[in-house]
Amino acid sequence: FNVPIAINEPVKSYAPGSPERDEVLKAYKKMFNETIDVPMYINGKDVKTGNTKTMSAPHDHQHVVGTYHLAEKSNVDEAIATALEARKEWSQLPWEQRAGIFLKAAELIAGPYRAKINAATMIAQSKTVHQAEIDAACELIDFLRFNVQFMTDIYHEQPDSTSDAWNRLEYRPLEGFVYAVTPFNFTAIAGNLPACMAMMGNVVVWKPSDSQIFSAKVIMDVFKEAGVPAGVINVVFGDPVMITDTVMDSPDFSGLHFTGSTYIFKELWKKIGNNIHNYKTYPRIVGETGGKDFIVAHKSANPIQVATAISRGSFEFQGQKCSAASRAYVPSNMWEVVKKRVIEDVKSFKMGSPEDLSNFVTAVIHEGSFDKLAKFIDQAKNDSDAEIIVGGNYDKSKGYFIEPTVIVTTNPKYSTMCTELFGPVMTIYVYDENKYSETLKLVDETSEYALTGAILSTDRYAIQEATKALQNCAGNFYINDKPTGAVVGQQPFGGARASGTNDKAGSALNLLRWVSPRMIKETF
Ligand code: ALA
Repeated sequence: FNVPIAINEPVKSYAPGSPERDEVLKAYKKMFNETIDVPMYINGKDVKTGNTKTMSAPHDHQHVVGTYHLAEKSNVDEAIATALEARKEWSQLPWEQRAGIFLKAAELIAGPYRAKINAATMIAQSKTVHQAEIDAACELIDFLRFNVQFMTDIYHEQPDSTSDAWNRLEYRPLEGFVYAVTPFNFTAIAGNLPACMAMMGNVVVWKPSDSQIFSAKVIMDVFKEAGVPAGVINVVFGDPVMITDTVMDSPDFSGLHFTGSTYIFKELWKKIGNNIHNYKTYPRIVGETGGKDFIVAHKSANPIQVATAISRGSFEFQGQKCSAASRAYVPSNMWEVVKKRVIEDVKSFKMGSPEDLSNFVTAVIHEGSFDKLAKFIDQAKNDSDAEIIVGGNYDKSKGYFIEPTVIVTTNPKYSTMCTELFGPVMTIYVYDENKYSETLKLVDETSEYALTGAILSTDRYAIQEATKALQNCAGNFYINDKPTGAVVGQQPFGGARASGTNDKAGSALNLLRWVSPRMIKETF
């Protein structure tokens, strides 16, 4: 099991005068101005149905940047049939061959496709170049490299044998085909979900989010060039209900790998339950869903560190990270210092279109998201138990721009303390510094979700108390850091409660869900 040691891809700076800056701006301009027509990809072929939808950039919604083709039921049927056909050879391919393909994909993104995947992510998902670089380039490269390593770690795990009995675990892929449903907010997640299942020998039908079609196309181009054979990963766009029904009505459906909303995940789970008697195997269900990620500061914390965790943890990536902080509990003794610093930080965040590389935040993904955020901001302007201390403006005349907004509330159960908004809105509750234990209890009681969370303190007893009291509130728990920025190979990622099945992305735990091991005993 000799594989290249996985290393994290270094993040490029895009500093003025750097070659990567020129390349990404060139790719951006070209893609932005050329109205790309994106086909689906089934059985190794581009598929155009002629039934298309247009795409525009969230930061410039009147500007059409492309069209994409919508699946008919027959296209989904074909994707399933072709996947099952491809499985015959793919599932038998030695693991080194599969590993080689995905390591090649990682190198293609690191090299010739880097500017393109970043530009696609900047345009259609409205990310700054730095956000795109961290997500679409580095995190996706890391997923591919590290998962190859985790895959071989799994294969290495074997039972003991004796001189007359050779015991072997054969890590077979699932029988049938698997289904990947991926979100707009991370290009890396969109690429990783189909890739990690295919890496383990599975064949995939993949439905990307309508808001991520551009970078999905680049990912498929990369997989194709890296040598993923026809039929192994098939991409379909369009009506999620029709696509999902068609997939889940197939007796060969054997797994769902999902990242998206809690509600949709539960609906899909129900659908699988309703069909359970039709399947040849029990489908594996893996999902990463919503979050209401928290920061708790103890009275011993450094207030500047608390302020930085709040402003960076909430507003990087426009708050559209599943890990983004959206509620904070700050003790009264440091509130004035934290407040002043948060306001200063947030005012320094420049907002605008991604093509201006000096912008720190850009637009939110679409009108639905914009309207929801605006509604909660307006509500906070009117409610007597809420006050907006910075931000609060929004404008959708050109793009879906919401100013990073901080609400302070006197009600720990205030709507924005509990509701997932998935955007640049943070709500802070200032608690009596002598009521730390009560506050931890409150956090636990109000944690419907359990994805990420952070405790900031210089007091070991307080850290230990939070670690215990909040043990079920976060799958990724950060001590003296913001609750975002998990790096593949360093912090496996995933949450429980309404946040998902906690099958840690970027780890062997996740890959193990995509195999059905056969125990072979041979005697002599
Ligand atoms: N890796 C991303 C983060 O943890 C999702 O913020």
